[in-house]
Amino acid sequence: MSDAVLEVEGLKVEYQTSSGPAVAVNGISFQVFPGETLGLVGESGCGKSTTAMAILNLVQAPGRIAEGSIRLNGTELSTLNPRSMRRIRWQEVALIPQGAMDSLNPVVRVDSQIAEVIEDHEGRQRFADMHERITELLGMVGLPARVGRLYPHELSGGMKQRVCIAMAIALRPKLLVADEPTSALDVVVQRVVAQTLLDVTQRLGMAMILIGHDIALQAQLVDRMAVMYAGSIVEVGRVESIFDHPSHPYTQLLVSSVPSITERRRRPSDATVREVHHRPSGCVFRLRCPQAFDRCRAEVPAMRELVPGHVVACHLYAGGSGEPAPAEAAGHV
Ligand SMILES: Nc1ncnc2c1ncn2[C@@H]1O[C@H](COP(=O)(O)OP(=O)(O)O)[C@@H](O)[C@H]1O
Ligand code: SF4
Ligand SMILES: [Mg+2]
Repeated sequence: MSDAVLEVEGLKVEYQTSSGPAVAVNGISFQVFPGETLGLVGESGCGKSTTAMAILNLVQAPGRIAEGSIRLNGTELSTLNPRSMRRIRWQEVALIPQGAMDSLNPVVRVDSQIAEVIEDHEGRQRFADMHERITELLGMVGLPARVGRLYPHELSGGMKQRVCIAMAIALRPKLLVADEPTSALDVVVQRVVAQTLLDVTQRLGMAMILIGHDIALQAQLVDRMAVMYAGSIVEVGRVESIFDHPSHPYTQLLVSSVPSITERRRRPSDATVREVHHRPSGCVFRLRCPQAFDRCRAEVPAMRELVPGHVVACHLYAGGSGEPAPAEAAGHV
């Protein structure tokens, strides 16, 4: 048996639309290992949030998990009944959804919202015990105890996001899925909140999937990175390996854009959204790929390992007689 906390295999999620099914996540596979932070990176609309929701079995109609398997510590989640899933959520895997801080209940004090998560799973607690626990949780995310008595509207964005982190770690899950947890914050606050998230997950020995669209920020935070394009994972590797040898042409574009990443106002391309709805034949990236060749139109590229732990889905690394071996083609040797 694998020692991964999470194993996703062949996950496919579709949304029914008036023009037929849109495949938001197209057969992705990846693993998350104990204590590590895996970054899931890609432009807007590529399927990151859908993946996050699928892991927690929270995909809502008109969406559905069409295929694939999601195993958390060996337990299959995609077919679990809602009651069992409710038990596992927060306790074994917690989600900080995209825009979480705006979904805090505005008329309920912070401490009551955290208490609700705990009592929902562990039943009623003595007031003094709960107070102590909430104070400790707030402290872990860098907030003073008095924040517990405040309402969300009395907090800054960074403080609200810290409250969301405190809720997510309240039951010490083994895996945290954080969907763009800092993207609504300004740049300086973004970094300190992201650092808090890393500190607490490391301190508690939790694994994390950190979702983001900013590869430069992700590079500073994660151990490994999975690059997603139009519903497919196109490259996975350790951050150093991805930055030293970006191998998929899409990753190469992302990495080469890093020096100018401060000029962030550019609208994200809507190509990925188009490709989710009208998938081209062969490689999903071929309409934007500067290196596309005949085979790219005919055949979907399979994942290949370039060096241990660094995989890519691109025909440039197919190997074969007379062609460079994958690692050599990617410049690893
Ligand atoms: N409720 C929905 N109905 C139809 N399509 C959807 C719905 N939610 C998401 N999608 C489509 O699924 C794709 C992936 O969306 P999403 O997972 O939110 O991407 P990301 O988080 O990477 O921005 C997008 O093309 C989006 O248009
Ligand atoms: S398979 Fe072809 S089109 Fe796709 S990324 Fe590789 S070279 Fe480009
Ligand atoms: Mg999203």
